Amino acid sequence: MKMWSGRVGRPLDPEFERWQRSFEFDRRLLREELAASRAHARSLKSAAILSSPELINILEGLDRIAKNAQASPSFLDDAEAEDIHHFVEKQLVALIGDTGYKLHSGRSRNEQIATDLRLYVRAAIDQLRSDVADCVGELLQRAEQGGNSAMPAYTHLQRAEPVVVAHWLLAYVEMFLRDADRLADCRKRANVCPLGSGAVAGATLPLDREAIADELGFESITANSIDATSDRDFVLEFVNALSILALHLSRWAEEMILFSSQEFGFIHLPEAYSTGSSAMPQKLNPDLLELTRVKSARIVGDATSLMVAMKGLPLAYNKDLQETQEPLFEAAETVMALIPLVAGWMKAVEFNFERMQQAAQSGFMNAWAAATYLAKRGVPFRLAHEVIGKAVQLCLDRNCELKDLSLEDLRQLNPAFDQDFYSCLELQSVLALHDVPGGTAPSRVRQALAQSKKRIELIREEAHAHA
Ligand code: ARG
Repeated sequence: MKMWSGRVGRPLDPEFERWQRSFEFDRRLLREELAASRAHARSLKSAAILSSPELINILEGLDRIAKNAQASPSFLDDAEAEDIHHFVEKQLVALIGDTGYKLHSGRSRNEQIATDLRLYVRAAIDQLRSDVADCVGELLQRAEQGGNSAMPAYTHLQRAEPVVVAHWLLAYVEMFLRDADRLADCRKRANVCPLGSGAVAGATLPLDREAIADELGFESITANSIDATSDRDFVLEFVNALSILALHLSRWAEEMILFSSQEFGFIHLPEAYSTGSSAMPQKLNPDLLELTRVKSARIVGDATSLMVAMKGLPLAYNKDLQETQEPLFEAAETVMALIPLVAGWMKAVEFNFERMQQAAQSGFMNAWAAATYLAKRGVPFRLAHEVIGKAVQLCLDRNCELKDLSLEDLRQLNPAFDQDFYSCLELQSVLALHDVPGGTAPSRVRQALAQSKKRIELIREEAHAHA
């Protein structure tokens, strides 16, 4: 029986009937639907709509549905169910008879779907935060492995200054930790219970909304039934947070692809995550990275679909809202599948620290440090910059590095040069010069590593508390 069959006198056009259903995709909300239904059933008992035996009957029926679904995925093959709400009602009635129909007293699918989606988003956030923490853990291990070894940092993709390899990896750690924070922030607003909002104006029975929210682990209850049944901000926020996360992953992937090219040679691609070419026997391709890069396109597409779907909707529930589900599921499930793979890649990748270090030692990346040397000796920085620029010119003419210029050559450019200039050009001195919080001086990088480890621990503890 349809959930609305009294009103519609004739059967639906079969094509339309199939087309308007959401069961094909909202069947993944079974766990959430059952949890919300249990909480609602208990509140019906408190409101004296259900007797104790009826409540027990319904709860047992809901448990049986969960067990049947677990025992066989084909249990969910139902060509008639309109959506997950209809499916559960049908199954319940099949198991316990007409008492099953009592479960829908005082509630509407509008609040049910809003609740199921909030539970889904909350669970996805908890899973994702824990996975992001694991992935960041792998990044930190690679960072530690590098010790004090250096590499070029680029601006405009031109060699700019040397940095500790760990410092570079910690840049990604920052991005991913911000993503984890963003998800935690989004969780706060998602973790609010709409049940009791009815179809639009609030439940028609005196339901204890706080008790329902408590049972479902929600932090609080929604304040307005019209908003509660039509709000999908939590979906928008979540998928937008995911699109930023995916964008970070895409930037990371792009840089890894670049650094694994023969031209850079900083990275040995892990074979377990790469394929060869059917034509060119020598090839090893960065498939995981390329697919990571392109997956971000889907997520951004999902975020855009959601924004556009919502922007013209009058209050309150409209069937358009059904279409917010698929972009949500696609974004969540794509990123959830991706992060453990990225972590696996991270664990397997090998850096060519020697080559990175070599690259950090040529190309005048000590020029700013050289100008700073002069500035410390009283030469105004703008002039010091000019002097070192000229020294670089000289080196280019002679095909050498700054350290190869004689003191005489240098003094012709400016008398402030002295013998100790040469030690300030050395890689370790250049790194150590950037001795500010957030800078690449090795001692600062060690501190930053320790800080990041603590932040991951906090995320893990929180994930544990939510599990
Ligand atoms: N399948 C619907 C959705 O996802 C459930 C809510 C249906 N409500 C309604 N009034 N038809 O939005």
